[in-house]
Amino acid sequence: MFHIGGEFGYNRVVSDQPVIELQSVSVLYPNGIQALQDADLRVHKGEFVFLVGPSGEGKSTILKLLYREVKATEGHVLVEGHDVGRLSAVGVARLRRRLGVVFQDFRLLDYKTVRENLTFAMQVLDTPPQIIRRRVNELLDQVGLLDRRNDFPQQLSGGEQQRLCIARALINHPPILLADEPTGNLDPDTSEEIFRLLEAINLKGTTVIVATHDNAMVDRMLRRVVYMCGGRIVGDHPAGSYYQPDECPYDEAAPAASGASSEW
Ligand SMILES: Nc1ncnc2c1ncn2[C@@H]1O[C@H](COP(=O)(O)OP(=O)(O)O)[C@@H](O)[C@H]1O
Ligand SMILES: [Mg+2]
Repeated sequence: MFHIGGEFGYNRVVSDQPVIELQSVSVLYPNGIQALQDADLRVHKGEFVFLVGPSGEGKSTILKLLYREVKATEGHVLVEGHDVGRLSAVGVARLRRRLGVVFQDFRLLDYKTVRENLTFAMQVLDTPPQIIRRRVNELLDQVGLLDRRNDFPQQLSGGEQQRLCIARALINHPPILLADEPTGNLDPDTSEEIFRLLEAINLKGTTVIVATHDNAMVDRMLRRVVYMCGGRIVGDHPAGSYYQPDECPYDEAAPAASGASSEW
C-alpha cells in the first residue's frame, strides 16, 4: 500500500487498484494517423511490463499518454486513480513527479557533470542541499557511477549514460518508472546490464513499464509482455517471450478513415 497526495490532494491508500489503467483509449494524431485504437490495459503496483512490437505500433504513444505529452482522443487514462486527461497544468506537473521517464537518446545535460545532472533534477523541487547530497550519492552507488560523479556525460560509455538517466529518473522517488527503448542505442551486453538494473529497481517496489523491440532481452527476462500491432493491444502474457503473431492482423498505424481531428 502507499499514499498519494497533492492535487493528487488528499492522502489515500491504494491496494488492489491498478496504478495505471487505459480504458478504451484511442489516439488520433493531428496528421490523421491513428496511433492507438481502443486500447485497454491495467498495470498493478510492483509489476514489470514490457510493451513490445515493431516500430510505429503505438508503444511510445502509450508512454506519452501516461506522462501527458499526448492526450487521448477517446477513452480514459488513469494514473494512480486520476484521469490524466482532466488534469490542470499544476496537476500535470504533479503527475510527472510520480513518473520517472527514461529515453533511448538519454537527454543528459552535456555541460553538467554526472553529479550535477542529478542535483539539477532535485533542485528544481527546492530540496535542501544535505538531502540532495545524500540522495545523489545513494543513487550513484545504486547505478554504479559513484566514482564517475565528476565526469561529464560525454566521458561516459553509452551504458553508463543510460544508467545516469535511470538515476535521474528515480531521483524524486517516483513509484512508476517508464522507459522508452532504453537500450535502443546499446550493444547486447550493455543492454543486459540496463535490463538487470531495471529489474533490481522493480524488485524494490517500483512499477516499471518498458517499451522495447529488444526481443532477446524480453525473452530472457520472463516478465509480463503486452504485444502491440497497428495501434492495438493484440496480446498480453504474464511471463511471456517476445510473442510475435505470424502476421499483424491490422494495418500498421493506418490513417483514420474519417481524416484528422482538429480537436487538439
Ligand atoms: N506526434 C506525432 N504526430 C503524428 N504522428 C505521430 C506522432 N507520434 C507518433 N506518430 C505516429 O503514430 C504511430 C505510432 O507511433 P509510436 O507510438 O511512436 O510507435 P512505436 O513507439 O511503437 O514505434 C506511428 O505511425 C508514428 O509515425
Ligand atoms: Mg517508440
